[in-house]
Amino acid sequence: MEIQLWRSILDPYDLAVKELIVKFEHIRKEHRDNDMYSPIEQVSGRVKSVASILEKMQRKSIPMDQMEELVEDIAGVRVICQFEEDIEAVAELIRRRHDLRVKSEKDYLSHIKESGYRSYHMIAYYKVETLEGTKELQVEIQIRTMAMNFWATVEHSLQYKYKGDIPPHVTDRLSNAADAIISLDHEMSSVRSEIMDAQVSSQMQVNLVRDILGDIEQLYRLSNKREVMKIQDEFLRIFRTKDILKLERFQRELDIIAEGYRAQEIDHETDLC
Ligand code: GTP
Ligand code: MG
Repeated sequence: MEIQLWRSILDPYDLAVKELIVKFEHIRKEHRDNDMYSPIEQVSGRVKSVASILEKMQRKSIPMDQMEELVEDIAGVRVICQFEEDIEAVAELIRRRHDLRVKSEKDYLSHIKESGYRSYHMIAYYKVETLEGTKELQVEIQIRTMAMNFWATVEHSLQYKYKGDIPPHVTDRLSNAADAIISLDHEMSSVRSEIMDAQVSSQMQVNLVRDILGDIEQLYRLSNKREVMKIQDEFLRIFRTKDILKLERFQRELDIIAEGYRAQEIDHETDLC
């Protein structure tokens, strides 16, 4: 197969990975914008290199004409969560989407691999638009916690270093580390609700400030500039107190003022008609 051909085969996969990263990041944004905890913490992706595709085809005796059906991870997307509980939430989000058709799932959380590897895998069909028309291809989505990801990354590097033949003393260490990661994930889960609360309120404050500043900007356009300067000073004073309740009250009052001006503006516009 020529270089040219590889590129044209792999290009739609590159598009799929890019699109899915944007979509998963958007899910995170939607949660945060709506003062909600996001089960997605980080998203990354890659297209498998030609070298590893060839290696896998050789290892699994996959003929060239069945490559796209049998090498299921040419496009790979990884979703990293903070807590183990978030993994199922992400899997459910994926099952409910109309742009992803789940083909299979592998639960390496309840069935930990012999290596100690833990993760939740989904293979799904996804459509991309190309110059040649619509192409449906497969993507592998790996969902795991930050801690699981840390372990898998280290183990993967060691597999590479020892060419898949890790010596027993290193395997023992990795196995201990895998146990430590399990208890770390459990410890983190036990404080999950506290951490979620903290993250949600810090995000709420960010959204609140965004909304207040939006209102102030609008007032600046519609009303007396000196009044708005006063409002802005008042906002800065309350902001410095770090009292979220006061900030919320301020925003409610501001909303009423802004609403009043918006109504006046509409009246004014209809007068002109
Ligand atoms: P390959 O392992 O890619 O040949 O695919 P498979 O069909 O055997 O599927 P499997 O679910 O075993 O693995 C899919 C992917 O999960 C791999 O490509 C890795 O990215 C990851 N993975 C599976 N097992 C391990 C493991 O023991 N260690 C690490 N670090 N990653 C693993
Ligand atoms: Mg494997």
